[in-house]
Amino acid sequence: MKYSIKAGSPEKIVSDCIIVAIWDKGRLSEEAKVLDSASRKSVSKLVQSGDITGKLGETRFIYNAVGIAAKRILLVGAGDKKSLSSTTISKFFSTAFKVCRKLEAKSLHFSISSCEAKDKDKKWIASRLSQEAEMAGYTYTTTKSQTMKPWAAKSISLSPSTGIQRKILDSAVKRGQAIGKAINRARELGNLPGNVCTPTYLAQQSVSLAKSNRSLSTQILSEKQMARLGMGSLLSVAAGSAEEAKLIVIHHNGAKTDSRPYAIVGKGITFDTGGISLKPGGGMDEMKFDMCGAASVIATMGCIAELRLPINVVGVVAAAENMPGSKATKPGDVVKSMSGKTIEILNTDAEGRLVLCDALTFVEKFKPRTVIDIATLTGAAVATFGSHVNALLSNNNELAASILECGQHSLDRAWQLPLWDDYQSLINSNFADVANIGGPRAGTITAACFLSRFTEKQKWAHLDIAGSAWNSGAQKGATGRPVSLLVEYLSRQKA
Ligand code: BES
Ligand code: MN
Ligand code: ZN
Repeated sequence: MKYSIKAGSPEKIVSDCIIVAIWDKGRLSEEAKVLDSASRKSVSKLVQSGDITGKLGETRFIYNAVGIAAKRILLVGAGDKKSLSSTTISKFFSTAFKVCRKLEAKSLHFSISSCEAKDKDKKWIASRLSQEAEMAGYTYTTTKSQTMKPWAAKSISLSPSTGIQRKILDSAVKRGQAIGKAINRARELGNLPGNVCTPTYLAQQSVSLAKSNRSLSTQILSEKQMARLGMGSLLSVAAGSAEEAKLIVIHHNGAKTDSRPYAIVGKGITFDTGGISLKPGGGMDEMKFDMCGAASVIATMGCIAELRLPINVVGVVAAAENMPGSKATKPGDVVKSMSGKTIEILNTDAEGRLVLCDALTFVEKFKPRTVIDIATLTGAAVATFGSHVNALLSNNNELAASILECGQHSLDRAWQLPLWDDYQSLINSNFADVANIGGPRAGTITAACFLSRFTEKQKWAHLDIAGSAWNSGAQKGATGRPVSLLVEYLSRQKA
């Protein structure tokens, strides 16, 4: 998609579709008023007939209006002007794209200079426009034989706003485009079936991503190399599978080599059967999404490289398949992690923490300033938060506060749970230094408690994305979260 800032009075804009806002109670936005008076009241007539009331999410087309250069006008309800916020603007865009997706319109123009969000600036609006457009353009087709007709739209333009330089709007649009594309990359990796998207596939994708970005480099560790490092915990998860586990390390070199990096670490279970603690059959297909943390790390690395962030970042993905093979780990087995701590595996379905703990120990060698891990870790997070929230737990308040704020900014929101010592005793073991489960209560917290035993020396935060990473039901598919949160966080950091 091509984006541009296009100036000019709305009625003179040449476009296949011009999009303007209608406020609630049928009040016309400034741009709608201009179109109305240029087109012999074509807009206000629709309002008077009650065809559009301005409720958020409503849409109406006007075709071939006299005196209007654009082929169609799309009126989009934007709700109460005074309460226009980042969430409503985002909904405004996604609604517009949803209906435009079905059109044979090659160019779209958003005439929305008068729309001001109470909590965000024009830069944010411009970047959200292109992010939503990219997201709207994605459909999963890879393993379907009937290919969908691609979206006809080729160019999207935005009206300029007073008080903000065109250059700044341009770069905001570029940024949103990069974020939207990265979200789609994460969605695609998530949506691919487990027989395609294996640990080896994730490694190959990372290598080819690095080849197309000068600032990126990768290192792929085999099981043999991981064994040499003592990653007994990670390897115990892969033991039952014919697929080889991979530790994927991606470096973004945006600052001087001696500048300490920021680290992001993703859970990459390419399929989670539960292992010997086998999961029930219903809905098990959704456990192909158990690598969405990894997908968000890979996509974020690609995005920050494209944005040329002037910092160093290391992305680590712990990729394995959790299967009940004859060599699989059994409940009660004790393994030794890279940290030296021994782990009693009471449930082989609590495998995410087992691969992450070794990846978190591994990343210490880069002396990261902060470490964020991202994982579809617990069903308890889904029970607690449903699908709208990334669960956040951290051993550092400053880091947690920053992640919460970035979640608000990117509308990829997180909510914090306590990581109090009171919960630590739940993962005590009689046979090892720590047990890999903490019983049926407070599952998201005890999972984070487990990880915290391996991150004591780090400023660390954990995002449990079990609820937010994919949708179930008719809209089944990966969401690409929390790529936009991670990009926002890293964009705010300094070398
Ligand atoms: N990948 C699952 C978590 C999950 C379950 C995410 C359902 C989304 C939906 C994870 O590996 C897992 O199986 N966790 C167990 C942990 C339990 C055995 C302590 C869970 O949450 O049931
Ligand atoms: Mn599991
Ligand atoms: Zn899992």
